[in-house]
Amino acid sequence: MAEDVIASIRTLRDAAMAELDLCTSAEALEQYRIKFLGTKGQLKEAMKLLGKAEASDRPRLGQEINAVKDAVQGAFDARKLEIERGLTDARDAIDVTEPGVRPTIGRPHLVLRVADELAELFGRLGFRVEDGPELEDEWHNFIALNIPESHPARDHKDNFYLVGHEEPAIAEGAVKTTGARQERRNRALLRTQTSTVQIRVMETRKPPIRVVIPGRVYRPDETDATHLPMFHQLEALVVDRDVTMVDLKSTILQFVHAYFGHDTKIRFRPSFFPFTEPSAEVDVYFPDQDRWIELGGCGMVHPNVLTNCGIDPETYTGWAFGFGIERIAMRKYGISDIRAFVENDVRFLRQF
Ligand code: DAH
Repeated sequence: MAEDVIASIRTLRDAAMAELDLCTSAEALEQYRIKFLGTKGQLKEAMKLLGKAEASDRPRLGQEINAVKDAVQGAFDARKLEIERGLTDARDAIDVTEPGVRPTIGRPHLVLRVADELAELFGRLGFRVEDGPELEDEWHNFIALNIPESHPARDHKDNFYLVGHEEPAIAEGAVKTTGARQERRNRALLRTQTSTVQIRVMETRKPPIRVVIPGRVYRPDETDATHLPMFHQLEALVVDRDVTMVDLKSTILQFVHAYFGHDTKIRFRPSFFPFTEPSAEVDVYFPDQDRWIELGGCGMVHPNVLTNCGIDPETYTGWAFGFGIERIAMRKYGISDIRAFVENDVRFLRQF
């Protein structure tokens, strides 16, 4: 008899537990409470079985019923909390067919990506990548590049000179050329061009040289749709025997066609740079804006520059270029305003 009562109490417990799993709303839970835990609920009914049992069995049965009541009440309370917090059964909480929320992860900035693409492309043309310091001195930024003290490019208002960072003097013997040796000061400044690294490479390595240098440069320019006070350049330098202007032009054409597409229009305009002779500027046509935009300058390395670096201009010749990486990225990805690169608008950045 007592065993029958225990068995039916346990059956009731199992049924109550199973049914609780099916309750997914506050209303269903209330129905459940009335059915099992209410004053007329099934657990109260089960108590009545006690009255019919042998007096000697009652304590054992009472304990059993109370344990079941506590278990069901405990499970009910936990379920109620889940429903209140909006977490129903795990089976309902995780809908595996839902698209889900994509975690936002960072990515390289477009300028760095383009710099990598360019390094990769020039790598295939046999160039190796070099770099140099952004904090430079006048020797590498001007003097060795054949830019004399009187040149307007060295004006205070066109450069970020560092106050209180004056190198004592240019090392005696480092300079073999005219003019350069007469300069005593070698002030520090943020480099205005990656051409500085041409000097650093030629000072430390002998030809043949075939390098590209992606890097950041600084100029106190007015900001507009094509100018920023800090931007990036890709410099290239080739020094070897019998290097000519044909190599320069054909390499630039190969690069432009490989990177922008074969129908890209470019033009070379005669120009002047102290560190190249002859010199040219390279413009690329922007079909979306219906105008030419300057990529940068190029030319045959000036003999004085080779001499300044201890390379004999009678034996070696060279060519070089320096292009704006933001301008290249603008042409490649149809960006009309250079300021977009530094505004940090994630809607812009996420597109690339
Ligand atoms: N350094 C020049 C500038 O920033 C660009 C340039 C011109 C680089 C001619 C070169 C070059 O290597 O050969 O305006």
